[in-house]
Amino acid sequence: MVSPSQIAPLGTDPYVFQPGYYDLFRAVRGEGALPNPRFFADRAPQGGSALEIGPGTGRVTLAVAERVASVVCLERSATMRAVLLAKLAERPHLLDRVTVLESAAPTFRLGRRFDFVYLAGVLEHVPPRDRGTLFATLVEHLADDGEVAMDMVLAEAVPDWPERVVDRAAVGECRYEMSSTARRVDEEQAHLRFVYRTYHGDALVATEVVERAHYLHRPDAVLSDLAKAGLNAIAGTALAPAPDRDDDPGTLVARR
Ligand SMILES: C[S@@+](CC[C@H](N)C(=O)[O-])C[C@H]1O[C@@H](n2cnc3c(N)ncnc32)[C@H](O)[C@@H]1O
Repeated sequence: MVSPSQIAPLGTDPYVFQPGYYDLFRAVRGEGALPNPRFFADRAPQGGSALEIGPGTGRVTLAVAERVASVVCLERSATMRAVLLAKLAERPHLLDRVTVLESAAPTFRLGRRFDFVYLAGVLEHVPPRDRGTLFATLVEHLADDGEVAMDMVLAEAVPDWPERVVDRAAVGECRYEMSSTARRVDEEQAHLRFVYRTYHGDALVATEVVERAHYLHRPDAVLSDLAKAGLNAIAGTALAPAPDRDDDPGTLVARR
């Protein structure tokens, strides 16, 4: 039997197939799943205001929203936004705290400042040449005593591997698998190919394929760009990089 196959054309939303699987695969990974919502929520100021770039399905958003008075989320993927809205619908007490807008970094202008500005699992989508613009935009939206938090600031080797299964989950009679292939492009970029396969029993019933760029942000270069934007790093694992550890989240926290 030939399974239906959907291939997202290059340049379309790289998360077009992800929303259905994103939380499922992270649930299987359990406490170790990155990004770690607790890292960001614990730094969010109680009763303050927050701005999140790239909330995706809201794994981190929901934890932050439990602490702050308001969170504005800028998300470019329509399918990811839809999942976040569906989750908010199940949490009436958060409905007046979370605002979800279609927008994309690095250039956006909201005309207001926030106590906490953060991006979780997003930096890999930002080309290093746009990092300076991104940080300048974040500073424009940061209260004088506010804090910026991010992750994926890593000294890791550029990903390069043949296709391998990286996530598996089962729901009812179906099994879901995601495999990835990585090809090194240069010191700061890899090209990734993800294949999502759905099995009903032993039959492969659906295949979805998406390809995208993965950008690397090295600690020294990030610290230098933060300084140019007027920010000083004050905490995070990126201050003591561990290139051999594959569970290093590469977190970095900065203030003016
Ligand atoms: C790996 S997901 C992380 C989602 C969520 N922050 C979490 O920690 O679970 C990355 C998300 O960032 C969004 N994203 C990537 N680049 C973006 C950009 N330049 N502006 C806004 N959102 C972006 C993607 O659409 C996707 O939903």
